[in-house]
Amino acid sequence: MAPPPYDAIILGAGAAGLMCAAVAGQRGRRVLLVDHAEAPGKKILISGGGRCNFTNIHTAPDRYLSANPHFAKSALGRYTAADFLALVERHRIAWHEKTLGQLFCDGSARQIVAMLMDECTAGHVDIALSSPVGEIGHDGTHFTVALPRRTVAAARLVIATGGPSIPKLGATGFAYDCARQFGLKVVEPRPALVPLTLGGDEALFRTLSGVAAEVTASAGKARFREAALFTHRGLSGPAILQVSSYWRPREPIAIDFTPDATSGWLLDAKRAQPRTTLRRTLAATLPDRLAEALADRIGLGELGATGDRKLEDAARQLSAWRFMPNGTEGFAKAEVTVGGISTADLSSQTLEARRVPGLHAIGEAVDVTGWLGGYNFQWAWASGWAAAQAV
Ligand code: FDA
Repeated sequence: MAPPPYDAIILGAGAAGLMCAAVAGQRGRRVLLVDHAEAPGKKILISGGGRCNFTNIHTAPDRYLSANPHFAKSALGRYTAADFLALVERHRIAWHEKTLGQLFCDGSARQIVAMLMDECTAGHVDIALSSPVGEIGHDGTHFTVALPRRTVAAARLVIATGGPSIPKLGATGFAYDCARQFGLKVVEPRPALVPLTLGGDEALFRTLSGVAAEVTASAGKARFREAALFTHRGLSGPAILQVSSYWRPREPIAIDFTPDATSGWLLDAKRAQPRTTLRRTLAATLPDRLAEALADRIGLGELGATGDRKLEDAARQLSAWRFMPNGTEGFAKAEVTVGGISTADLSSQTLEARRVPGLHAIGEAVDVTGWLGGYNFQWAWASGWAAAQAV
């Protein structure tokens, strides 16, 4: 039998698959990159409001969620944000830092996809788009992949089909089915970086839809100081998206609406202006409608007519306001997926399955999920690069 024309077949032409294909191709590997979509990198195109927040200069393993918090260290340490930035600069793509170390294109996310496609061309990568993947076989040495008009084979198969977030962009749970077929475990996938919904008494907060404030939001030990936004379904905004990755059903989240307040601030306000109200005091730092809603719920009169104990209780409540979300907006609105192919079954150096030589999994398909702010693309680049060294 003639040897297969490819050394590696990579399933999924998203961020991780494109990087892996380009680097492996440039290392002299014969690579086939397959995607069921008609165009590569669809999530890259819509990311960062069309400008792609392509990395974060503060990338560090502690900004990732995984059942094994050490797993991402190796890949992240060997292909860094600076490495990706060097690639971006080599392609003369103008960029800027927005906030919190987040790097964006000045122009368009299309430039990142074009860059990765150019890199694939430089690596002589064959790309099969509009190619739904059928049956996958393995005879112990080669993997076979049934495509619409042919079956292809290679000694290496890389699962890079991402997670199920945003199905309307072509996202599927294919990676998990494929992993299970080869006996790899899957950590329960959950929507992450996703708005939270409020019901019951808290549904009243939905009347604040459109109001935003800088807060500190926390779920368990995770705390994020960023903007929170009230929506017609509940809570969103960067602070909420961040805590959503840590949130578990039937657990509360806490919001500090007064993150800059010094101890005794409400007592100080009472001494300075006894005739003022909590609403007016809060409106100095919070949007009017939010100040009103919070003050109404706490229900105090003029500060001067309120006892110090009550004011201290109110200050405490405002600094740790408990919400009991009744759910999330689900995979339809989730930027990423927490969970995925278990890191316990993969090598952190090569992303190769421990018990299935030649099978690799990279990117969002794996149980490694970054914070909001460019961390997820950095994982996609780093894990794609790491696997490319081994295929
Ligand atoms: P990705 O989802 O990119 O690629 C998977 C590929 O596999 C897709 O091309 C898909 O078509 C293909 N595929 C799926 N199922 C298949 C099947 N059965 N057969 C064949 N092909 C199949 N991150 C960040 O760091 N900065 C940001 O600014 C943003 N912004 C952002 C905005 C929005 C709206 C979303 C939804 C997500 C983000 N992200 C982000 C997250 C980021 O997009 C995500 O983490 C990476 O795209 C993951 O890269 P992967 O290559 O692993 O999967």
